[in-house]
Amino acid sequence: MKGVILHGGAGTRLRPLTFSGPKQLIPVANKPVSQYVLEDLVNSGVTDIAIILGETFPELVREHYGDGSKYGCRITYIYQGKPLGIAHAISLTRDFVGDDKFVVYLGDNLLQYGIKEYVEYFLSSDLDGMVLLKEVEDPRAFGVAELNEDGELVRIIEKPREPPSKYAVIGVYFLTPVVFDIIRKLRPSWRGEYEITDTFQLLMDEGYKVGYKIIDGWWFDTGKASDILMVNATILDERIKRDVKGVVKDSKIEGRVCVGEGTEIVNSVVRGPAIIGKNCVVKDSFIGPYTSVGNDVKILASSIEYSIILDGAVIKGINRLEESLIGRYSQIVRDEGNRNVVQMNLGDYSKVTI
Ligand code: G1P
Repeated sequence: MKGVILHGGAGTRLRPLTFSGPKQLIPVANKPVSQYVLEDLVNSGVTDIAIILGETFPELVREHYGDGSKYGCRITYIYQGKPLGIAHAISLTRDFVGDDKFVVYLGDNLLQYGIKEYVEYFLSSDLDGMVLLKEVEDPRAFGVAELNEDGELVRIIEKPREPPSKYAVIGVYFLTPVVFDIIRKLRPSWRGEYEITDTFQLLMDEGYKVGYKIIDGWWFDTGKASDILMVNATILDERIKRDVKGVVKDSKIEGRVCVGEGTEIVNSVVRGPAIIGKNCVVKDSFIGPYTSVGNDVKILASSIEYSIILDGAVIKGINRLEESLIGRYSQIVRDEGNRNVVQMNLGDYSKVTI
C-alpha cells in the first residue's frame, strides 16, 4: 500500500502564521502537524509516500522531510500548484501509485488512534474505496455520509446546509487505481474544486464497492488557531512524559514536563503537561499546563497558559498570556517605564486581544 499526504492549501484561517509557512508545519507539542500524519503512515506499514505540495512555501516542506530516510520512509514530492481540490491532487499521483492500493491523508488531520487497523482492513478487503467517518455535533463544515436503515453507505455530500446525518467524512481516504478514471469525469464544484466527496459518490454511482468505518477516539481537522491549541493540549495531555534536561535553578517543575537541552529555568514554576524546547531562557515566570514552547525562546517575568510559543519568540513582563499562538521571532514586551502605552509591530492579519 502506498501513502499520499496532501500538504497544500492557503491556510487563510491560520493567518498570519501561514504567511511564513504552510499550515501543516505549525507545531503542536513541538512537532509539525503533518509529521504526526507521516509517522502514522509509517507506523501502519506505509513507507512509500508522496507528499503533494501547494503554493505556500513548498520548499519548507522539502527541507523538513527531505528524502524521508530520517522518518523510516521514502518520500516522492509532487507539485500541485493551484489548489484545485483533493481529487485534483489525487489525479497527480497516477504514476506514483501504479497498480497499488493507496491511502490519501490530509496533512492537517489527526486521529487519536491512527489508521493502522484500517490499513490492514482495506488491504485484506475487496473494496474499491473506503472512507472513515466520525460522528460530530455540527457536520456542516465537512463532507457528510448518509447511511440507509441497513447501515449501507448511500450518499456522500460536501458541506451540506442540511446534513443527512452527523457522520463527518474525515480526511483519510482509502483508494484503488480505478479512481483515476473516475476523477477524469468530475466537474469542479461551486467552490471551484474537484471534490473528494464527488469522487466517492461517482465511484458508488458507477457500481464500485465503497466501504466505511466509524472511528473511535478523537479526530481533529486543524484549520483554525483554536483547533491547533486544542490538539496541542490533547497531545500534551496524552503523550508527554517527564524528561527534564537543561539547567533548573530555584524553580519548581511539576508533573509531566519536557525540557530540552541548553534551556535555563530560573526562579520559575513550570506545571505540566507542558513542553519547552532547546536553548530557551525562562526566568521569574510561570508556565502553566497545556503550553508548548519551541526552541530559543525567552520568557521573562511572565505567565503563560494553554498556548503555543514558536521558536525565537520573546515574552517579557506579560501577565498573563492565555489561549495564544505566538509566531516565530515575535516579541511581546511590556515597556516598564511607560505602562499605559501599547506599542506594536504586527504582521498582516495579526490579532491582538487586550
Ligand atoms: C476537506 C474535504 C471534506 C472533509 C474534510 C476533512 O474539507 O473536502 O469532505 O470532511 O476535508 O478535514 P476542506 O478542508 O477542503 O474544507
